[in-house]
Amino acid sequence: MNSEFWNNYYQEQSTIWIQPDEVFATEVAELTSGNALELGAGEGADCLFLAKSGWQVTAIDFSQKAIDRINRQADKQEITINTEVNDILTYQPEQQFDLVYMVFIHLPLAERKQMLANAVNALALGGTLLFIGIANSDMDCDQEVSHLFSPAKDIAALLLEVAPDLHIEKQGHLNRTIPMPDKQSFKAETIIVKAKKLSNK
Ligand SMILES: C[S@@+](CC[C@H](N)C(=O)[O-])C[C@H]1O[C@@H](n2cnc3c(N)ncnc32)[C@H](O)[C@@H]1O
Repeated sequence: MNSEFWNNYYQEQSTIWIQPDEVFATEVAELTSGNALELGAGEGADCLFLAKSGWQVTAIDFSQKAIDRINRQADKQEITINTEVNDILTYQPEQQFDLVYMVFIHLPLAERKQMLANAVNALALGGTLLFIGIANSDMDCDQEVSHLFSPAKDIAALLLEVAPDLHIEKQGHLNRTIPMPDKQSFKAETIIVKAKKLSNK
């Protein structure tokens, strides 16, 4: 799905994700605040939440419509977020981050690997990488994406392929119902992979 698909999606939908993802909120509550990079920020519920919690956040998405939504919300809530329209497959930030995270970014294998490699590169020594996604769901997808869902062990294995010295701190699945403000909620087997960068190898 390219940026045109996502621009049309955000153009046509009213705001969907107003609240931060609850698994994301739980996981970041364990971390000391610093600077963070979100890859594929969408409407920005998670990065807005993080910025309100004292983090300095950079949010990247290749959809201008998504970034516009984040900027509007940030202005409304008087929050500072550094937003950028950019492709997470090629994005090379000048700085490194204490936290790099992705929430519900489901890409084909080669792109998934590229995104994870970029995420590790953007991570500071001692920093945390957090991936939250879906392994299985009964969601009624507008476009069939279920073949892009993956178990946590596959994400962890890919991370170790691109960065063998990464320390996988958590790798697990959680069954839950995800609320959708405008639509029917859906059941999703959520995956969480949390890793720490302990060396630059
Ligand atoms: C399912 S949404 C998830 C958004 C957000 N993380 C959330 O949890 O609400 C996927 C997002 O990834 C963005 N995206 C997908 N591929 C991308 C790429 N190659 N570069 C930048 N953004 C991308 C889309 O524009 C979309 O906003």
